[in-house]
Amino acid sequence: MEAGMRFGMLGTGVVGRTLAAKLVDVGHEVTMGSRRDGNDAALRWAESAGERGRQGTFAEAAKFGEIVVNATAGAASLSALGMAGAANLEGKVLIDVANAIAPDTGFPPQLAVCNNDSLAEQIQRAYPASRVVKTLNTVTADVMVNPRMLGEPHTIFLSGNDTSAKDDVGRVLQSFGWDQAEIFDLGDISTARGPEMYLALWLRLFVAAGTPHLNVRLVRRTS
Ligand SMILES: NC(=O)c1ccc[n+]([C@@H]2O[C@H](COP(=O)([O-])OP(=O)(O)OC[C@H]3O[C@@H](n4cnc5c(N)ncnc54)[C@H](OP(=O)(O)O)[C@@H]3O)[C@@H](O)[C@H]2O)c1
Repeated sequence: MEAGMRFGMLGTGVVGRTLAAKLVDVGHEVTMGSRRDGNDAALRWAESAGERGRQGTFAEAAKFGEIVVNATAGAASLSALGMAGAANLEGKVLIDVANAIAPDTGFPPQLAVCNNDSLAEQIQRAYPASRVVKTLNTVTADVMVNPRMLGEPHTIFLSGNDTSAKDDVGRVLQSFGWDQAEIFDLGDISTARGPEMYLALWLRLFVAAGTPHLNVRLVRRTS
């Protein structure tokens, strides 16, 4: 992935801010989007990011991005993308890192969509002219952008219908420090159901291991 690309970061939470900061660090420009121009967290982030970081509405961020990232609350992602606007997403790689946690469902939370559908598929159906790639939702924000902190190889998944979009996202992941051998292409967008439902296991691992800085590694017979 060459430096100097334009990213639209939809989301002002810890994930949006962490990914946006890393994208700026590796040489890209980012506009962070929110429901309203002037969101406090987005303003603070843009100030800290320097000249390659800006903030605005979801629509302004999506329009700015050559690649757009959905880092909004999963149950609100379709609404946020609606505000971003189909025209601003058309033809673009849309990286979806959201988990569709149903609000107010306690712990462990329930998913708003699962089993025979996924948020990533809902997004791809709603925006057929965009190239949705699900990834990174299976690790905490720090690990997304600093995979080497875990000290040994581990696995990150890709799901999407468009092979070249997955290649682009793979290059973004490599620029974050993921090794190519750690990036596992699960297949088309319907394969996002697994990584999305993995949240149930991730939450239990988090509690039992006592840290969010964890991940799984795919180990398979090779001969
Ligand atoms: N935390 C992690 O380490 C982690 C790891 C893997 C995946 N994820 C997933 O990544 C996503 C982002 O997580 P997060 O913790 O950074 O932030 P979050 O609190 O889940 O989401 C914040 C974003 O969602 C937007 N939002 C909330 N309600 C909305 C609504 N009704 N309509 C439109 N937009 C709305 C907010 O808009 P405003 O900017 O306008 O407030 C904000 O930009 C989530 O889907 C989460 O499940 C998180």
